[in-house]
Amino acid sequence: MTLLLITTLLVSGLGSLSSSVPRQFHVVKEQKNWTEAQQYCREKFTDLSTIDDMTEMEKVKSLIQEAGAGNAWIGLKRGEWQWSLAGRDFYRENESEFRNWDSGQPGGGVAEECVNMIANGKWHDVGCSSSLPFICYDGGSSTHPYVLVTDKKNWTDAQRYCREKHTDLASVRNQTENDQIKDVRGNNPGIACYIGLFRDAWEWSDGSSSSFRHWNTGQPDNGGVACTEIKNGQWNDAGCHHQINFTCYEDKLVLVRENKTWREALQYCRQHHVDLVSVTSERVQRWVRARAKGASTAHAWLGLLHSYGVGWYWVCGQTVCYSNWTQGHEQEGSFQQRVGAVESGGGLWVSNLTKTDKLNFICTTMEQCG
Ligand SMILES: *[C@@H]1O[C@H](CO)[C@@H](O)[C@H](O)[C@H]1NC(C)=O
Ligand SMILES: *[C@@H]1O[C@H](CO)[C@@H](O)[C@H](O)[C@H]1NC(C)=O
Ligand SMILES: *[C@@H]1O[C@H](CO)[C@@H](O)[C@H](O)[C@H]1NC(C)=O
Ligand SMILES: *[C@@H]1O[C@H](CO)[C@@H](O)[C@H](O)[C@H]1NC(C)=O
Ligand SMILES: *[C@@H]1O[C@H](CO)[C@@H](O)[C@H](O)[C@H]1NC(C)=O
Ligand SMILES: *[C@@H]1O[C@H](CO)[C@@H](O)[C@H](O)[C@H]1NC(C)=O
Repeated sequence: MTLLLITTLLVSGLGSLSSSVPRQFHVVKEQKNWTEAQQYCREKFTDLSTIDDMTEMEKVKSLIQEAGAGNAWIGLKRGEWQWSLAGRDFYRENESEFRNWDSGQPGGGVAEECVNMIANGKWHDVGCSSSLPFICYDGGSSTHPYVLVTDKKNWTDAQRYCREKHTDLASVRNQTENDQIKDVRGNNPGIACYIGLFRDAWEWSDGSSSSFRHWNTGQPDNGGVACTEIKNGQWNDAGCHHQINFTCYEDKLVLVRENKTWREALQYCRQHHVDLVSVTSERVQRWVRARAKGASTAHAWLGLLHSYGVGWYWVCGQTVCYSNWTQGHEQEGSFQQRVGAVESGGGLWVSNLTKTDKLNFICTTMEQCG
């Protein structure tokens, strides 16, 4: 009976190539700074919005327009400047905030997240992959605490070198120390030397690795501020303390950590949510993989099944186009109906479990297959 229903769904869904994302966006019309907005989104939904591609961007843009919400936060934030030498005892009050930027610095370019000192003792931000000489700090030497290393390295390698041979890359706590380091680096105008200041690149609030960006022309343009708002459909960097409207997303996948047979799992999802998940695109795969990691069983059921004559298809009614099977997956069917699951560790799909195996499973809380 259920099979008949599924097959009917399959036929009606055939040919539909749209692949709904298991995430829904919400615009919240309350003025909050970025951190308060993040807290709100995590309480009421999943997190501040992560935007993966142009389709999602258009979606969020039109939601903001419909709501008449003006500027609104998304989840992208840039890390604060910090010293490689992180020990709190090392800095007295305000000493970790000492800065000696050159005029027009930091430039705020997307990839410029490490800092060097030029001949006049002023600081510039620069990409961390540039090979430069650098200055280490040696806590063991009270007379010569700063060491110039002329062997050029990128910032991470320089940091490793200083940590191995000395204490760390040099921190600068006040103008006196800045002058000392300037003397150590010498007055060769042709070189710039790394010091220990850096900041993390742009990061999503939910830890996503999405590299999609939609900056307005000339953005991001402010080295000192570090949160992202949507303004007239484009991204702007703005001070995180501004109180504006914001956008959250709601995760539409649920990992159920109960052990059930495939059919029990299907029933459970249809009763409590909408359905077992259909993994119709790589994007959904990424979400499923992240969810599956939390499973207590080695695999988790997907809404994936195989019928003789029909082949593999999803419970939402689509045949399998996108796929991510383990090696050794047998494509050809038998007369016995088969079902699919995802490895909780690796995220690949397997087809050799039996329907009576008891596994955790992943439900979707929204209609898929458009
Ligand atoms: C937030 O949204 C409301 C209504 O949707 C709007 O009236 C208000 O101006 C917006 N606030 C900001 C700071 O854009
Ligand atoms: C620095 O160079 C090493 C190889 O020497 C490389 O593995 C690392 O990714 C580089 N780091 C940056 C930030 O470019
Ligand atoms: C600079 O900082 C160091 C370390 O805290 C301190 O010993 C020194 O007195 C400071 N110099 C000035 C002029 O503030
Ligand atoms: C489900 O099965 C796994 C592996 O056999 C086990 O570790 C886990 O405790 C079981 N969970 C429940 C809720 O029974
Ligand atoms: C299922 O297939 C995987 C990979 O092809 C294999 O490692 C595993 O042992 C198989 N499991 C069973 C129960 O046959
Ligand atoms: C298949 O899944 C693995 C693990 O989730 C992922 O690394 C890989 O990119 C996926 N391949 C495709 C073609 O989506």
